[in-house]
Amino acid sequence: MTLDEFRKAADKLERDGLAMVAKAADADALTAARTALVGRKSGKLTELMGALPSLPADARREAGAAANRAKQALEAALDARAAALAAAAPAGPALDPTMPARHVWRGAKHPVTIVLEEVIAIFRELGFTVATGPEAETEWYNFSALNFPPDHPALDMQDTLYLEGGALLRTHTSPVQVRTLQAYPPPIRILAPGNAYRRDFFDASHAPMFAQVEGMAVDEGITFADLKATLTHFANRFFGATRTRFRPSYFPFTEPSAEMDVTCGVCHGTGCSACKGTGWIEILGSGLMHPKVLEAAGLDSTRYSGWAFGMGPGRVALARYGIPDIRLLYDSDVAFLEQFAK
Ligand code: DAH
Repeated sequence: MTLDEFRKAADKLERDGLAMVAKAADADALTAARTALVGRKSGKLTELMGALPSLPADARREAGAAANRAKQALEAALDARAAALAAAAPAGPALDPTMPARHVWRGAKHPVTIVLEEVIAIFRELGFTVATGPEAETEWYNFSALNFPPDHPALDMQDTLYLEGGALLRTHTSPVQVRTLQAYPPPIRILAPGNAYRRDFFDASHAPMFAQVEGMAVDEGITFADLKATLTHFANRFFGATRTRFRPSYFPFTEPSAEMDVTCGVCHGTGCSACKGTGWIEILGSGLMHPKVLEAAGLDSTRYSGWAFGMGPGRVALARYGIPDIRLLYDSDVAFLEQFAK
């Protein structure tokens, strides 16, 4: 190639290149033009430079300068066009319809909530409605009306936080019994779900704040047979074919009193750490309501009788789902809780 031919080729590259840049209508076209013109590997300019060694040695300097001018002109034009296209682009983020959707987090009901809702649904079929009471309760409703004598040792098992003005954090949902009986005449059947508080250790089967659900049926002629039949029906409905047992117990507000156990869902009765080796999990306390409780609510205890229970839905969840430690219910660990999503 001669110097003259080289110059002409450089001029032509510049002219054609400038026209190509001017025609680029969007960023993609401009990128393609940039690659075609000044791309290092196979751009037109690289191709032209490749001809330099074929020129006579004394012409190479001038030819190189011509190629450089073309290069600078092209690069300046490319940059100017890029700026112009960017300025003309619509403001705001570009919509990218190919962007993958965000992972949808559905959330799930807490196992204690699942249990409570099912318990309430089963008892609703038997005519029980839902009643509630305050968590900050008076000593009278929490203890005195429930026949706890002052300074009775039973109070030690239910130590709690005392608030200003004689209130306390209720140690059970049982105060809702008397509150409800004061407000509605028998016959009455209620469930009272809610939180209760106790000075308990936080271990595999105890928590200082826990859910409870109270049950109560008051009418003329209610007997222990009603209690046993209803709670056994509940256990069969809720757990399916599980075994239950009633153990004699003591509560100041019931006489006689019984605790109901179900077969441990973790070991199915052989004994493990969740059931302290017994094969059973205690899920509720129950009994025939003490006449003093009915009288505290203003009822004639010679006419009316009733039975009641207090159940721990947390314990029930352990038994049903085979959860080995009640503390898991309070950890708010999403990986654990998501297992209960339906
Ligand atoms: N309130 C008792 C507790 O928290 C549980 C209980 C036992 C409730 C017997 C009752 C009942 O209604 O009849 O330990």
